[in-house]
Amino acid sequence: MADYDLTRRPRRLRQTPAIRDFVTETRLHPADFILPVFIADGIDAPREIPSMPGVYQHTEDSLVEICREALDAGVKCVDLFGVPREEDKDATGSVAVREDGVLNRAIALLRKEFGDELIIMTDTCLDEFTDHGHCGVLVTDAHGREVVDNDATVDIYCDMAVAQARAGAHIVSPSGMMDGQIAAIREALDNAGYQDVAIMAYSAKYASKFFGPFRDAVGSSLKGDRRTYQQDPANVRESLLEAELDVAEGADFVMVKPALPYLDVLAKIAEASPVPVAAYQVSGEYAMLNAAGQNGWIDYEETMMEALMSIKRAGADQIFTYYAIEAAKRLNG
Ligand code: PBG
Repeated sequence: MADYDLTRRPRRLRQTPAIRDFVTETRLHPADFILPVFIADGIDAPREIPSMPGVYQHTEDSLVEICREALDAGVKCVDLFGVPREEDKDATGSVAVREDGVLNRAIALLRKEFGDELIIMTDTCLDEFTDHGHCGVLVTDAHGREVVDNDATVDIYCDMAVAQARAGAHIVSPSGMMDGQIAAIREALDNAGYQDVAIMAYSAKYASKFFGPFRDAVGSSLKGDRRTYQQDPANVRESLLEAELDVAEGADFVMVKPALPYLDVLAKIAEASPVPVAAYQVSGEYAMLNAAGQNGWIDYEETMMEALMSIKRAGADQIFTYYAIEAAKRLNG
């Protein structure tokens, strides 16, 4: 049967499911996943997000339910985003800092309900809360340009992080891409007595159109773009700098976002990072797979698992994914 005298036959290790499983290099596990969840103020039933079928803005009740479902599936961490009422938005996003703001109320609720069983991570950024939709506060510079004021924004992030820690967050996650935000937040948390609250730094976050459906999800008020603070998709070197700075400033995790279109960035950061590296499979990645799946153009479940596997293979230790529960259930059989 053997016509060629081949010393190396890589197919040998692909012959049966058992052999393939035996030599697999990457295994997904439910505990790898972080489930992003949206809590909305002033709604009395969960509201499905049109561009993200199967993902909801939650009420407090349905939030608790989905967190329970995540835990039951083996997912240990949720990332909470707040969706305030329109009338609560203002220029500085002040409701983000208030104890009775939607996000801080939800943190307290989850901490009371789940204690330390569930890892409560919180988005530490102002875009959901400002009436202009930017991730920081605006100021008119000396040349009459309206810009996002880095340092004034970082001051508010510090207050926000402390408010989240006080409410019960285990991990805060500054996603606004302001310079110096990690060091400032670390110091603010420590000064307030929250030295055990960890920081997940959105280190390499790109000005990406893949965030489109997320803006629906949080009812974003943004006009324009975030290119003066989020990174240019063309660049990779500055991601290494961003991650290095965040580690030096005290980040407990660094993160790359989006995930699948930026696997090269993820792989490079993972190679160099002394702290765990996360990746965020964003709303647009979810929406694309779902849309193609709904049309019957791809095998949706298998493609979902392949995308998640690829993100892990490229170097992610943790994966933010709207598929967390679905994927975990599949892994559990
Ligand atoms: C900012 C934030 C965004 C996402 C997570 N945190 C949106 C943005 O930067 O415009 C995007 C998440 C996604 O697209 O799934 N608070």
